[in-house]
Amino acid sequence: MTIKEALSWARQELKDSCERPQYDAELLLAYILQQDRTYLITHDNDTIDIKKYKELIARRKNNEPYEYIIGKASFYDIHLHVEEGVLIPRPETEILIDLVADIIKKENITRIAEIGVGSGAISIVLARKFPKLKSIATDICDTPIKVAQLNINKYELSERIELRKSNLIDEVSEPIELVVSNPPYIAEDFLLASNVVDYEPKEALFGGRVGDELLKQIILDVKARDIKWLACEMGYDQKEPLQAFVNELGVKSIQFYKDLAGHDRGFVIEFNQGNNNE
Ligand SMILES: C[S@@+](CC[C@H](N)C(=O)[O-])C[C@H]1O[C@@H](n2cnc3c(N)ncnc32)[C@H](O)[C@@H]1O
Repeated sequence: MTIKEALSWARQELKDSCERPQYDAELLLAYILQQDRTYLITHDNDTIDIKKYKELIARRKNNEPYEYIIGKASFYDIHLHVEEGVLIPRPETEILIDLVADIIKKENITRIAEIGVGSGAISIVLARKFPKLKSIATDICDTPIKVAQLNINKYELSERIELRKSNLIDEVSEPIELVVSNPPYIAEDFLLASNVVDYEPKEALFGGRVGDELLKQIILDVKARDIKWLACEMGYDQKEPLQAFVNELGVKSIQFYKDLAGHDRGFVIEFNQGNNNE
C-alpha cells in the first residue's frame, strides 16, 4: 500500500471517533516512519508495510489518546514521557506555571513543593526556569512517581527535584515557601469523554463527590504548615465554593484566574504568616 492509500484508509477508519481524522492519521503514520508530516506529502507514492500502522489506528479508533499511543506529550517547552497511569499534561496548566513563576521571581523563592506530580510537567518546567529552585514533588500513586523520575532524569534535574510518595504534603516536613498543585478536582458523577475516562487514571481526575474536597484539604494543610503561598488549578465551577471556604478560614488574599477559554481555572492564595488560628 502507498502512503497516500494508507492515509485514505486510516482517515475512513477514524472518521467516527476522531475530531480530526486526517490529522490523526498523518500524525500516527509520521510517528511510525519517524518522519515529519510533510514527508508524507512529498513521498505519497512510496510503498509501506501497513501492519504496525493498522495496530495503532485500531487503538486510536478505540479513543486511546494519541499521547499514550506514542508515549510522549508536548508541554510548555519540553517533551515528556507519558503512559497509562499518568495524566497527559494539559495546555491550561501552563497558565498556572506562569503565575507561579511570577511569584517565585518577585519573592526570590528557592524552596517549593508540588502536590500530585503526575508526569513531572509543573516541577520540571519551573526547575528549568529557575536554576536555584529546589522542589519536593509528591504523588499518592506509584506510576506517576516512576514516570516523573524518568522525565526528571531526562532533563538532568534529579539534584533539584525530589520525588516523594505521599498523601498531599503529609511526608514533607522541610521548610517550604510555596506549594503548587493541579490536583484531581472533577466531581465523581461528572460525565467525561471516553478518551479521558477510559484511559486516564481516576486518581488524577476525581477530587471527591463534589470535586473540590481535595482542594479544600490542600488549602487547610498549607495554612496549617504556615506556608505563605499556594497556587492551584481548579474546576470552572469551583470559584464560589472556594471563595466562601477561604472567607471562612481567613487568608491574606485570594486571586482567581481564568483559562484561555475564559473559564475560571485556578487561584493563588497568600496566607497570613505566623497566625494559623485566625
Ligand atoms: C490532575 S493530575 C496532575 C498531574 C500533573 N501535575 C499535571 O499537571 O499534569 C493529579 C495528580 O495528583 C495525584 N494525587 C491524587 N490524589 C493525591 C493525594 N491525595 N496526594 C498526592 N497526590 C495525589 C494523582 O495521582 C495525579 O498524578
